[in-house]
Amino acid sequence: MNAVTVITSGKGGAGKSTITAGLGAALAARGKRVLLIDCDAGLGCLDHMLGVSERRVFDIADVVAGTVEPDKAVYASSVSPNLFLLPAAGTEEDVVSPDIMRELVGVFSRFYDHVLIDSPAGIGQGFLSAVAPARRAMLIATPDPVCLRDTAQTRIRLQEAGVEQQRLVINRFSCFDFRAQGYYRDLDSVIDAAGVRLIAVVPNDPQLAAACANARLAPPDSPGTMALARLAARMEGNQVPLPPLEKF
Ligand SMILES: Nc1ncnc2c1ncn2[C@@H]1O[C@H](COP(=O)(O)OP(=O)(O)O)[C@@H](O)[C@H]1O
Ligand SMILES: [Mg+2]
Repeated sequence: MNAVTVITSGKGGAGKSTITAGLGAALAARGKRVLLIDCDAGLGCLDHMLGVSERRVFDIADVVAGTVEPDKAVYASSVSPNLFLLPAAGTEEDVVSPDIMRELVGVFSRFYDHVLIDSPAGIGQGFLSAVAPARRAMLIATPDPVCLRDTAQTRIRLQEAGVEQQRLVINRFSCFDFRAQGYYRDLDSVIDAAGVRLIAVVPNDPQLAAACANARLAPPDSPGTMALARLAARMEGNQVPLPPLEKF
């Protein structure tokens, strides 16, 4: 099986979908075939971010119901070549059990280098299904005590679900805000609060947010895009140092 990664967080709004879309594009830019699976039933937004919403007819619920062959519900993104999406179910109902997710991802992963699963917020049934097939998890958190408290909880749930390899992505980081807020002395204190090893710091980047909102790629030299390119490289085993915090 190829690399299957769940993108998750304790709190909603931490940036899971933005990171899933941006990281997918960054891995695709490295020449990899990437499938994104939107597991946020009823609240999925990756179809919009990937420029698929106008064309989408089927979604994961149709695949699970057996009304279509799995590949008929996968759409090529207009944002980037090599980037594909299996859209979320249109209703909030829990139609995808952890066992079905494992089976589905087992089938799909043979055709892709990376499968990224965008999980719903919280630790309910939808979360358990989203994490079930994953070998590793990216925990997305903003550097504030409320979000990091939920991150620590999510880490425990991931461990219980058997996802051993967990990495922290600090999102929406701004050096100025970080110092002004004064919640934490330094990045090490943030990492300690989460209890998860750091893999990336993604800056607060309006260009990245706007790109997702408008179904296009952010400029390659935007700080968010560059941070996601570094994350993609690290996910593929490259050693890429973290730039000094003052750069964010
Ligand atoms: N790195 C970032 N820079 C600027 N805005 C961001 C960043 N990451 C997320 N956002 C914004 O934060 C909000 C929540 O992001 P989203 O990806 O939908 O979170 P989630 O999927 O975790 O609920 C959105 O308005 C999005 O544009
Ligand atoms: Mg989301």
